[in-house]
Amino acid sequence: MITIALSKGRIFEETLPLLKAAGVTALEDPESSRKLILPTNRDDVRLIIVRASDVPTYVQYGAADLGVAGKDVLNEHGGEGLYQPIDLNIARCRMMVAVRNDFDYESAVKQGARLRVATKYVKTAREHFAAKGVHVDLIKLYGSMELAPLVGLSDAIVDLVSSGGTLKANNLKAVEEIAPISSRLVVNQASLKLKRATIQPMLDAFAQAVKQ
Ligand code: PRP
Repeated sequence: MITIALSKGRIFEETLPLLKAAGVTALEDPESSRKLILPTNRDDVRLIIVRASDVPTYVQYGAADLGVAGKDVLNEHGGEGLYQPIDLNIARCRMMVAVRNDFDYESAVKQGARLRVATKYVKTAREHFAAKGVHVDLIKLYGSMELAPLVGLSDAIVDLVSSGGTLKANNLKAVEEIAPISSRLVVNQASLKLKRATIQPMLDAFAQAVKQ
């Protein structure tokens, strides 16, 4: 049995065509089903539905053989025990630093101000500001980061930006790109060795489908 870990929403939807190219069709939709283990057209392949940030953990421990996870999530996890063979080029967005429209980020950085930064992506933010030599106090949040500068919790946020609509609606502006983000296929290293006969053709089909 091959178990593939996916999260609901954009990653699930954009992975479906790639699965199809590998001969796998989901028999249920996680948006309408409350089941967390979904059967496929193949008796030897099943999908499990987990939180996006939990995908690397399921694959690391071998509870899933394969998974699809954003680079944002993989950087926070660290990627231990994971083979990351293919950038699937899906669920694309950007990891950005953003501030209030009336906040002069450039000057604050030039003056060496110590910045309060709210984010779900603490490791990513720590690495980014350390590389820039900017001193920051990081405040861990679990969502709705855009609110933090509006109510005085932080000077800046580090968050994913896709259309930019959420920043705009909250009078925030992006001031720095940290990294372009897309989702990667992740594979448990032991699974790849033990189940190579089944997994390798799937990897080849994914790679081929991504190229097209
Ligand atoms: C993400 C991100 C932003 C928003 C950006 O949140 O955290 O809030 O999308 O998208 P936009 O630039 O198109 O407005 P998401 O809706 O994925 O929920 P989350 O807070 O649970 O990550």
